[in-house]
Amino acid sequence: MDVDEDAERLFETNRRYWDVSTPQKMEHGSYPLESFRDGESTLFEHEPEEVGDVAGKSLLHLQCNNGLETLSWAREGADVTGIDISGESLRYARELAGESDLDGAFVQCNVYDASAVLDRRFDVVYTSRGVLAWLPDLDGWAAAIERLLADDGTFYLFEGHPLPRVFDEDFEPVRSYFDDEPSKRDESGFGADTDHYRTLHTLSDVVTALASSGLRIEFVHEFPFDYWHRWERMEDDGGGRWTLPEADLPLTFSLRATTS
Ligand SMILES: C[S@@+](CC[C@H](N)C(=O)[O-])C[C@H]1O[C@@H](n2cnc3c(N)ncnc32)[C@H](O)[C@@H]1O
Repeated sequence: MDVDEDAERLFETNRRYWDVSTPQKMEHGSYPLESFRDGESTLFEHEPEEVGDVAGKSLLHLQCNNGLETLSWAREGADVTGIDISGESLRYARELAGESDLDGAFVQCNVYDASAVLDRRFDVVYTSRGVLAWLPDLDGWAAAIERLLADDGTFYLFEGHPLPRVFDEDFEPVRSYFDDEPSKRDESGFGADTDHYRTLHTLSDVVTALASSGLRIEFVHEFPFDYWHRWERMEDDGGGRWTLPEADLPLTFSLRATTS
């Protein structure tokens, strides 16, 4: 089997996983739907601060899932488009847009094909929270982002730090930080028994892929909090930021890059 066929099989497997797991997560109450419906944003405070003013700008959200963050950017005044490989996830995004009376275009496609499918460029390209592990090729991802950005465009990523993935659920180190082979898994709280492939990327892989695509990296910030309850011993600071009381480890990071 050639590399392209392997990649197609990986994407198709992951698409099926998300078509199964997103409805389960939505039913389970994994998302702050009530507060969003009450008009609140699901973005962390630092995200609008770090991205800058988006009012009147076109913003593309890659791997938007149920559209909560996409529509939160609409509340900040952006003209938003979200793409995702999972049609089931986008069904929720469209429903949330309709019931919240917010405008947003939601298109089913692979990140790697987004430029060809959308055939336009954006002032801001945004992606966040659990996106990179689903992508086997970061150079192709960075090139796709470069093709989607307008002149003077801004790319912004807020993502789980790769370091915690070295540890298992008991906080024991179980895998190499440098293992970058896609691994097939079928155990999971959501989508259990549904195969999916994930790839561990180091922080330097992410930065180098974006820099090599021609983007100019403005900053990388590492944060000592996660956006989910990864380990039993973590504490919520009240704002959905989960910290480790006994250790300051980098648990998430943000990165901003521009075309100029
Ligand atoms: C963890 S979610 C994204 C974060 C979202 N904010 C959330 O909390 O659920 C990952 C998303 O990536 C999408 N995805 C995975 N591989 C993709 C690809 N190659 N192209 C586009 N979307 C992809 C999945 O369908 C899923 O909706």
